[in-house]
Amino acid sequence: MNKSKLIKKGNLYYPTKEFKKRALLNSSKIYLEAAKNPIKFWEKLAKELFWQKKWKKAFLHNPPYFKWFVGGKLNITENCLDRNLEKKKNKVAFIWEPEPTGERERYFTYYDLYREVNKLANALKKLGVKKGDRVGIYLPMIPEVIISMLACARIGAIHVVVFSAFSSQALNIRLQDTKAKILITSDGYYRRGKVINLKQNADKGVNGTEVKKIIVVRRTGNEVFWQKNRDFWWEELVKNEKDFCPPATMDSEDTLFILYTSGSTGKPKGVVHTSGGYMVQANFTAKWIFDLKEDDIFWSMADVGWVTGHTYSCYGPLLAGTTFVIFEGAPDWPAPDRWAQIIEKYGVTTFYTAPTAIRMFEKYGADLIKKYKFDTLQILGSVGEPIDTAAWKWYFKKVGKERCPIVDTWWQTETGGILITSLPGIGPFKPAFTGIPFPGLKFDILDDKGKSLPAGKEGNLVLLPPFAPSLLRGVYKNPKKYLKTYWSEYGNKIYFTSDTAYKDKNGLIRIVGRVDDVIKVAGHRITTGELENAIAQHPDITESAVVGVHDEIKGEVPVAFVVSKEKKKEKDIEKEVKEEIRKVIGPIALPKKVYVVPDLPKTRSGKIMRRILRKLFTGEELGDLSTLANPESVKKIKEIIAK
Ligand code: WT7
Repeated sequence: MNKSKLIKKGNLYYPTKEFKKRALLNSSKIYLEAAKNPIKFWEKLAKELFWQKKWKKAFLHNPPYFKWFVGGKLNITENCLDRNLEKKKNKVAFIWEPEPTGERERYFTYYDLYREVNKLANALKKLGVKKGDRVGIYLPMIPEVIISMLACARIGAIHVVVFSAFSSQALNIRLQDTKAKILITSDGYYRRGKVINLKQNADKGVNGTEVKKIIVVRRTGNEVFWQKNRDFWWEELVKNEKDFCPPATMDSEDTLFILYTSGSTGKPKGVVHTSGGYMVQANFTAKWIFDLKEDDIFWSMADVGWVTGHTYSCYGPLLAGTTFVIFEGAPDWPAPDRWAQIIEKYGVTTFYTAPTAIRMFEKYGADLIKKYKFDTLQILGSVGEPIDTAAWKWYFKKVGKERCPIVDTWWQTETGGILITSLPGIGPFKPAFTGIPFPGLKFDILDDKGKSLPAGKEGNLVLLPPFAPSLLRGVYKNPKKYLKTYWSEYGNKIYFTSDTAYKDKNGLIRIVGRVDDVIKVAGHRITTGELENAIAQHPDITESAVVGVHDEIKGEVPVAFVVSKEKKKEKDIEKEVKEEIRKVIGPIALPKKVYVVPDLPKTRSGKIMRRILRKLFTGEELGDLSTLANPESVKKIKEIIAK
């Protein structure tokens, strides 16, 4: 076990010798090797996986379209399951931690999982599911969600996972768009001690869609509406199925899954991911970034309803043949330190979460986690939004005890896997900086005219050819949107991320924020992310959101919403926050108003919904709030603004 603190040089941290020795990768030579010939590099990695037939050409570019491992044939489940049976038959693939503390956890070995997946695959076939058909999956974080995804992949059906806390309307849109004929759901699930009747939502959600059959997992035992010949209990369907189903032969470029994500228009778009490239990227990013070795226990907190759950709570760790934890509940229920209890219970070695969760943990106060040594932890991960310096330091010191590298991983639903981060055995790690591009990737930071910017200058983050094997291949049934969103800003050979970023003199990248959040104050360009980072320096502020609102003189001015852990006079907080911004950025960025609020509206993945805050000032329709984690926060903020 690694007991020494990371090595600090200036504001950079490096892994210790001892840590490096154990790490899968520990020399920066890998970056040079990959850069020499990225396509060859990815080919070399791809060869480590099992292909039914080898590809003919590694990369084919026909802008804005591209292909990886052209002509290759594979089935991702052979790599996740069959291949692991050779040496890891009885190794635990994953442990499921239920929400109710009185209920027993469940362990699935690779062999168990293999059999369950094959049985369901056979059952799906009997229900008429064929290669290329879309299957809706509307399940909470229970083992069956993983089994369902893999069973689809086994037979070449395309899974469309819909986050279980999304409304029936959100489900309906996705089922309509994909014309799914089958839906897999459960009777209910637990959330903060309550039973949520998921089947009821599913029943509503399939209205007007082509869903002819619903498979229902019995999870909570609540009463459900039942439609004969349409609804089937999971356990009865799989009971008599054989535990082997031949894996479908998938072309490298055949679609593996579609996952919906929010677009600029507010209408969700179906991001299309394919089989071969995604597999290669999921495997190597999981293995190398989380340094997954034989005895590691990996816990990613994200729900499978999000891309993080797809890649790092299912495919990635299974491909890497590791043991991982999935958790049904909320990290702060029934006690605020539930997450810490889980880390201790299973001896988690790598913990992956989002800045929003880190700040929430911090908000509960230092006393709460004082009793935890966290001495099994080796690596900490962060994802989803820029992590501010204050949260980074808290995470590094209080959870990682200054021993654990923080891999701040930048990626998107569209990229399918992590693309930018520091590697744990190489480093360096720097608060609020995500790191450098994963070996084999070429990023640049461009100004509006497309000129590459030097260190210190902020611009648009773009990905250059040959891109990444796991980058999206399309927006489902919407090629125009694909072209416009990703391949228009700088022509059709440059992938536009919608993020702004800059590099420091070491080449480490700091993500500033989405271009959609840019505010222009009196002609000066500032971003909400920058302001929030400044506000976060204030010791009492745990979370903040800044939006631009119309101002007659300056065009736009920032307005800040802050959550404070100290109960002080609002006026004082406002003054101090402004002082902080003045100090960090300058007087041009001062917000017009600082609202002290109890909570900020967030998506279930923890992203703060600035769009909603902005609309509170423009009087526009707020839209569907049901996709928020905390819709009630909006009402409270409205009242505060009205005051
Ligand atoms: C956007 C993508 C893919 C994981 C979940 C988010 C922001 C993501 C980081 C990071 C700064 C980050 C970007 C990106 N983002 N990770 N480590 N540092 N920003 O996926 O919902 O598709 O969002 O999240 O703005 O464009 P997503």
